[in-house]
Amino acid sequence: MKTKVRKAVFPAAGFGTRFLPATKAIPKEMLAVVDKPIIQYGVEEALAAGCEEIIIITARGKSAIEDHFDISYELEASLEKRGKTELLELSRKVSNMANLSYVRQKEAKGLGHAVLMAKDLVGDEPFAVILPDDVIDATTPCVKQMIDVFDEVQGSVLATMVVEGPGISAYGVLDGSPLSNNPRIIEARGMVEKPKFEDAPSKNAIIGRYILTPKIFELLENITPGAGGELQLTDGIKGLLKTERVYGYNFEGIRHDAGDKFGMLKATVDFALKRDDLGPPFREYLKSLSL
Ligand code: UTP
Repeated sequence: MKTKVRKAVFPAAGFGTRFLPATKAIPKEMLAVVDKPIIQYGVEEALAAGCEEIIIITARGKSAIEDHFDISYELEASLEKRGKTELLELSRKVSNMANLSYVRQKEAKGLGHAVLMAKDLVGDEPFAVILPDDVIDATTPCVKQMIDVFDEVQGSVLATMVVEGPGISAYGVLDGSPLSNNPRIIEARGMVEKPKFEDAPSKNAIIGRYILTPKIFELLENITPGAGGELQLTDGIKGLLKTERVYGYNFEGIRHDAGDKFGMLKATVDFALKRDDLGPPFREYLKSLSL
């Protein structure tokens, strides 16, 4: 097995029902935080982490994602004609961004099934999985932090964050022990999907970033579908745990669930406030609100 993480898989074939009606005709992954589709944040993160190949799992109705990362001749010609050089550069930057491949998931049979669609394109090497709804604000890109951990531990790495209180029940929760030399790294014993608060084995919630070894494909091919006929990625990872070491990693940064309306609002405010152009007037506007 090669050991460098060169490929990043973006499952983007879900229905995005939490964001209806916006997602009836627009892919959830194309909803923007400020002025950038959420999937572009993830792609930029993967590239900044050194990934060279981006594999996007798409489905019917998701062609806007392909169009977004493609050249838009009409738009570019029009911008060029009107002398809008900065906007032209912005548009070209997106289409030149990465080496992208697309695989269709014909039926939304779950996250595990979506990842399995990338088997042939990934081959026999470790790879990253990035859920585009999780937009992460971090000084060192979250996937870069995880690849550094992977290089150290040579086992699959799941990004986790500490969730206090009953909110933990919305996540897959890691059961494990922190390493003595780096307590951010947790050697996993198991994981529990959406436990009751009182049954949660820890406060470490698994979020939408994974570095996985290729063994996961064999396991995903052999697991039985869970609720709603879906193949769960966590069931595949539980299988990995039987033969390989798997680690949680409490990454440094803030994760926004932009696939959820409230999470998207928070992400928009946080990212807008950080912008040089929008931050100062937006801050003034927020202060003027009599809340
Ligand atoms: P989510 O459950 O967050 O996405 O799956 P969803 O199903 O699109 O959204 P809701 O819950 O109905 O609002 C996590 C990720 O896995 C992808 C989704 O596109 C999302 O990025 N996914 C999920 C697939 O690619 N295929 C699937 O069959 C299921």
